[in-house]
Amino acid sequence: MTGKKKVLLSARKIRARVKRLGKQLTAAYAGKDPLFVCVLKGACVFYADLVRAVRCPVQFDFVQASSYGSGTVSSGEVRLEKATDQPVEGRHVVLVEDIVDTGRTLAYLKRLFLQQGARSVAICALLDKPSRRAAGGAQADYVGFTIADRFVVGCGLDYAERFRNLPAIAELPAEETHE
Ligand code: IMP
Repeated sequence: MTGKKKVLLSARKIRARVKRLGKQLTAAYAGKDPLFVCVLKGACVFYADLVRAVRCPVQFDFVQASSYGSGTVSSGEVRLEKATDQPVEGRHVVLVEDIVDTGRTLAYLKRLFLQQGARSVAICALLDKPSRRAAGGAQADYVGFTIADRFVVGCGLDYAERFRNLPAIAELPAEETHE
């Protein structure tokens, strides 16, 4: 942190919220042997905390998709760069994402998993920017925090691969984006 970023959500606040999300997911998925799919790279920090807050057995998997280049504006087009290792057919899938922005990435992944025969697909996102939702964009079933239309970094979220390791969620000032 350079000290210029505005902290929106402290690490403590995030920890408390993730614990509650874990409880909710435990109640919803006990006995269902869910597959928790982490959307790389941004969700990895949230995912690691979330799965440890879930008290029923879960299996891990990872996908990578991108709708952003290295800037702050979505390209609008989603690419799958890494598929799950195990088949999702017949599984209860929980897609774990850092943030739902336009919702295009998650709409694409949800559609893909349902086409592949997943029994159910739920979305759990640390952050939600509902004002940015595109037509046909996905809605999250479990949300940590709803935020305004600001570009944020930290807790896994990056700007051009930087700031992912900040423990808090902070707003990135325009002068740091050089755009
Ligand atoms: P969507 O498909 O537009 O919902 O984009 C989702 C992806 O865009 C997220 O997984 C993030 O990687 C990226 N993204 C959207 N908003 C932000 C932000 O405020 N900070 C960092 N990354 C963001």
